[in-house]
Amino acid sequence: DAGSVGTGQRPLAQRIAAEGKPQLLSVAQFDRGSLEDLFHVADVMQPIARRQKVTRILEGAVLGSLFFEASTRTRVSFGAAFCRLGGTVCDTTGFTFSSMAKGESIYDTSRVMSGYVDALVVRHPEQGSVAEFARATNIPVINAGDGPGEHPSQAILDLYTIQREFSRMGKLVDGTHVAMVGDLKYGRTVHSLIRLLSLYRGLKFTLVAPPSLEMPAYLVELVARNGHVIEQTSSLAQGLRGADVVYATRVQKERFANGETLEGYTPEFQVCKALVDAACKPDTILMHPLPRDGRPGANDLSVDLNHDPRLAIFRQTDNGIPVRMALFAVLMGVEQQVARSMRDA
Ligand code: CP
Repeated sequence: DAGSVGTGQRPLAQRIAAEGKPQLLSVAQFDRGSLEDLFHVADVMQPIARRQKVTRILEGAVLGSLFFEASTRTRVSFGAAFCRLGGTVCDTTGFTFSSMAKGESIYDTSRVMSGYVDALVVRHPEQGSVAEFARATNIPVINAGDGPGEHPSQAILDLYTIQREFSRMGKLVDGTHVAMVGDLKYGRTVHSLIRLLSLYRGLKFTLVAPPSLEMPAYLVELVARNGHVIEQTSSLAQGLRGADVVYATRVQKERFANGETLEGYTPEFQVCKALVDAACKPDTILMHPLPRDGRPGANDLSVDLNHDPRLAIFRQTDNGIPVRMALFAVLMGVEQQVARSMRDA
């Protein structure tokens, strides 16, 4: 029951607030306690996400969904999560169909939208842009990806998935070994996830990337300062060995600066069945934020792993609904009423 979450403490929305507002801009807003309290709220949402129970707790509320970059999962799952709480969604996708194409500023767009809707979910190609939306309004704003910056809701659902997979196996996140693979320079999901994982104790990270796509130094330093072991390699076979979690990412070519190339990124970088069978353990979890490039020869997570039980990618996407429902419930201050509001579907 989420009604018991945070008993004797300030509401979760206040504990994770950004600049005193109920907003989600960065995973840096969480400590381990607030993250685990959010996971309890997500657990309460599971029967609704699975269509066994229904709630109308957000009836009458309207979500503004502003996506200025391509998205399938994040846009649709945020919208579905809001609808499953009883709310409705108004959206605009791409610059072409927004008045930003006529030169309207982020400030004006955000002020106008906050007169129409009760919460905003925003994806935008510039790092820091969603924080700019948030500064212009007092309604809840959620960062659904700000260029190469962060993707906090993805990292939260990734860690929620790791916890659920580990719980099934009787394992803990503390002390685990996580291999992150691929484009660690521009992959915003790994930037957010490594920060969240570093809230736990005694992890080992193996960062597998070609030199041109390595994890930013400030994140490597942050993780090392928090007492975790961190190794970097460009050898995929070596990097996967012994890992409890392999988190693969797509090369974000759309973020390459002029003249940047895929130097050092060979076809052998593909995470495929033969490699996983040779290098991974029987209980290694294989994850990816998706989308993946499934074309033959692509340097990504291979489709030949689709029937391998270690592949958790669709359990990840399913968990996007309860986690995003939990975020809305917390930021809109109704998380303690959800359990009581539920009835059978
Ligand atoms: N993982 C993710 O952000 O997917 P979309 O780009 O489809 O939203």
